[in-house]
This record gives sequence, structure tokens and C-alpha cells, in this order.
Amino acid sequence: MSDIKYQITNNNLTSEEETKLQYEYIEKAKIKVNEYAALIGHKPTCCVTTFGCQMNARDSEKLAGILELTGFELIDSEHADFVIYNTCTVRDNANQRVYGRLGYLHNLKKKNPNMKIALCGCMMQEDTVITKLKKSYSFVNLIFGTHNIYKFAELLVRMFESERMIIDIWDGTDRIVEDLPVERKYPFKSGINIMFGCNNFCSYCIVPYVRGRERSRNPEDIIKEIENLVKDGVVEVMLLGQNVNSYGKNLEKPISFAELLRRIEKIDGLKRIRFMTSHPKDLSDELIEVMRDSKKICRHLHLPVQSGSTRILKEMNRRYTKEDYLNLVDKIRKNIPDISLTTDIIVGFPGETKEDVDETIDVIKKAGYDNAFTFIYSKRTGTPAAAMANQVPEEEVKYNFNRVLEEVQNIAHERAGRLVGQVEEVLIEELNEQDETLITGKLSNSTTVHLKGGKELIGSIIKVKLTECKGFYYFGEIVE
Ligand code: 5AD
Ligand code: SF4
Repeated sequence: MSDIKYQITNNNLTSEEETKLQYEYIEKAKIKVNEYAALIGHKPTCCVTTFGCQMNARDSEKLAGILELTGFELIDSEHADFVIYNTCTVRDNANQRVYGRLGYLHNLKKKNPNMKIALCGCMMQEDTVITKLKKSYSFVNLIFGTHNIYKFAELLVRMFESERMIIDIWDGTDRIVEDLPVERKYPFKSGINIMFGCNNFCSYCIVPYVRGRERSRNPEDIIKEIENLVKDGVVEVMLLGQNVNSYGKNLEKPISFAELLRRIEKIDGLKRIRFMTSHPKDLSDELIEVMRDSKKICRHLHLPVQSGSTRILKEMNRRYTKEDYLNLVDKIRKNIPDISLTTDIIVGFPGETKEDVDETIDVIKKAGYDNAFTFIYSKRTGTPAAAMANQVPEEEVKYNFNRVLEEVQNIAHERAGRLVGQVEEVLIEELNEQDETLITGKLSNSTTVHLKGGKELIGSIIKVKLTECKGFYYFGEIVE
């Protein structure tokens, strides 16, 4: 299987030389796309569909940047000449959705034989997936993984040159290639990768296996990217990493995440800073202080707890106890009283009892989450938890899942509405999908607000009086 996981780079170039090489491939790809346009008789359309997290969404923007530059017209419909699925594999249902939708794409391709299909992202880093795709999905033209996405232009050229399925999956990479084109979904906000990969090896999680070891970008490169984005109209950035709290530890000149935030805060014209995800074990006092004193860091922290049972947390290899977590929440709330906290919870981890779930429910009550994403444990081949003997029966998991969900909804409901009557800043993001006389935006604490207004306000931050709370969102009125 020479095409699977055989390398971490395919040349000895420096990052700068690699960027240059990829721009040369963009020029070559332009010629190929032009030939393709002549064959099909129109400017080729392309659709990038993203599964999974914000990291993947950002990767899709990088793919879109190259597609646009090489001559594709980006569209939202999969009735396109070229469809790319950027996949997720964090839970099995994400994989199943991809297989299901590939069947649909196959039908489209039967009607349009010149159609091209590509797959990339986390799911492609799994050997079993590649074996299955080779066997039963031979109509796919191009498959690549998470580590060589910076070579997308090169891979495009290879795809157009070949009649056969191109598969290029790497084991890992030590490269971070800067300055490649990006096509942003929103003109006024952007995700920024500050690090890649993860070293935590939580026992249920496949991410360290498919995204590789932790690598941080140089702070100078991050700052330069944000400065350029701000010049281009961006007012809000979301700093992205699997565990942003351990940012910078392995750099040649180590720097803390809190220090990076201090430097980003100084960028003129930047109004809002968000980040995700924070691992509780690495959240420092220094970070809490920086957040407390900051004018730009948003009042929202996503702090995945996963379980409230110290015993299960140990089995999960999370490296904190229930008490550690609750103490941390206390400290955060004391220092930043207006913070909104959200979390991730897994129900049904091997060996989890009703009593363990009671502990999780206790944490939900005490932490007072504004929202929580609750997941049923999904067995991921290759992770330590998948080999654990005591998998929980489905019925029991469902029962506990519903108990957790109910508590999450109760607490979120209690917390919602606490800002009614106040005037808050809202970043207007889009026209309301249901009612075009309304616009929709976000508070600093991430809650959605709907208000009367026109599309000219999209991208601006305005003062809004919050007049009514409906479930998880507010209605408001402009006050200036
Ligand atoms: N099963 C269920 N949920 C998982 N997550 C990660 N791995 C699994 C798994 N095997 C959840 C965690 C994580 C979020 C992104 O996905 O809660 O924080
Ligand atoms: Fe999915 Fe995790 Fe990969 Fe994100 S990092 S795409 S959530 S598997």
C-alpha cells in the first residue's frame, strides 16, 4: 500500500520555498482548469462541503482560496463540476454521513461523467477508510489527508493529469507553510490557526492520531496574518487550536498563550478576539488575568468538561478532577463575572455508571453553563477506550443522555434572559434567514441577537438594547 501514510514531507524545501513552489503549481493548475473549462463548455463550478469543527471550516477556506485563484466559481450546491468533502471523524456518525452522501454524489457523477470528486480531512487519515474507498468508491478522483493540505494546488494538477484515483496521505508533518491564498466566508471575521495537532491523547479521542503532534505557529506569523486581515476589513478573529492553552510551549523561543493574546490585543483596528478550544488542565492564572483586563477578548469561554466523575475523568486521561474543574470555574467567575461558559460532555464512556452521570449533572448545576454540547460516546478504532471491556449498553446510554440533556436545558434556560434591559455591543453578521427586515448578530458572550435593520450594518459593531429573550437568543433595538 505505497500510497498510504508513507511520508511526512516529499522534499527538503524550507517553508518559504514550499510556498513559492505551491504558487508555481497554482499557475500550472490554472492551465489545467482552463482546459477543463473548454471540455465542459463553461467556467467550472466547485462546492466545498465542510464536516466537523472550526479547524475544518478554516481548512475549507484555504481550499476555496486556491480553487478561486485557479479559475473555479465557488457555489453552495453540490450540483457542481467539482465537489470536495472536507471530512471529520471525531464520532462515527460523521463518517457514516460522508459514506451516505458519497452515494448521492455517485448518482450526480453518472449524469455528469466529467464531474470530479475529492475527499480530504481527518477521516482520510484512517487506513480502514482508505481501504474501503479504494474498494467501493472508485469514482472518487482525489483523496488527501490533513498534513498535506498545503499541497492542494499540486494535488489538483495531479488529479487533472490522471485518469486514476489519486491518493496522497501522510503520516504527519513537521511543516507549517505560511502565506497561501485563503477565501474567507465572512469579510468581517476570520478564524486563524495558531497551532495544529494535539498531544493530549484523551483515551476516547481520535484527533491526535489524525491531526498529528502539537505544532505552534510563530507569534510573528500570527500577528502579521491578523494585521493583514484587519487591513482587509476583519474586526473579529477566532484563534484556533485543539488546545490553545498549551500554545507556544514547544517553540524555539517559548511564549505563553496569554502573552500571545497580549500582543494580539495591541493590533489597531481589531475589535474582538475569540479562541477555542481550552483544555482545563492548562488554563493558567495568567490567562484569566489577561482576559479580565482585556477590552477585546470576548466574554465567552468554551471549557470542555467531558465528565463530572473524577473516576471517569481519570479513565479518559483528562488529568483533572471534578474539584479541580469546579475550582477553576470559580476562579474564572470571580475574576470575570460577566463570562459565559460553554462545554462539551460525553455520555456513555466505557464503565460509566448512573452515579458517574449524577456527578456530571452536579457539575452542570454548579458550573452554570450557558450551553453544553452533549455527545453520545462513539467508539473510535485505535483509541485506548475502544479496547476497554466495559462498553455501556445502548439503552443505559440513552437514558443517561436524556438526563444530562434535560439538566443542560434547565440551566441554560435559567441563565438565558439575564441581560434583558441592558445595552450591549453586537457584531452584526447577516440578514435574518426567516425575516429579511431583521438582522442577526452576536454579543461578546456569543449569544445571538435579532433586531430590525438593513444589510448595510453587516460587519459593524453597534449598541443594542436587549428587549426580550426567547430561549437561547435575544431580540433587541438599535440605540445609536
Ligand atoms: N465520542 C463522543 N464524543 C467525542 N468527542 C471527541 N471524541 C469523542 C468520542 N469518541 C467530543 C468531545 C470533544 C468534542 C469536539 O467531541 O466532547 O470535546
Ligand atoms: Fe473533526 Fe476533530 Fe478533525 Fe475537527 S479535528 S475535523 S472535530 S476530527
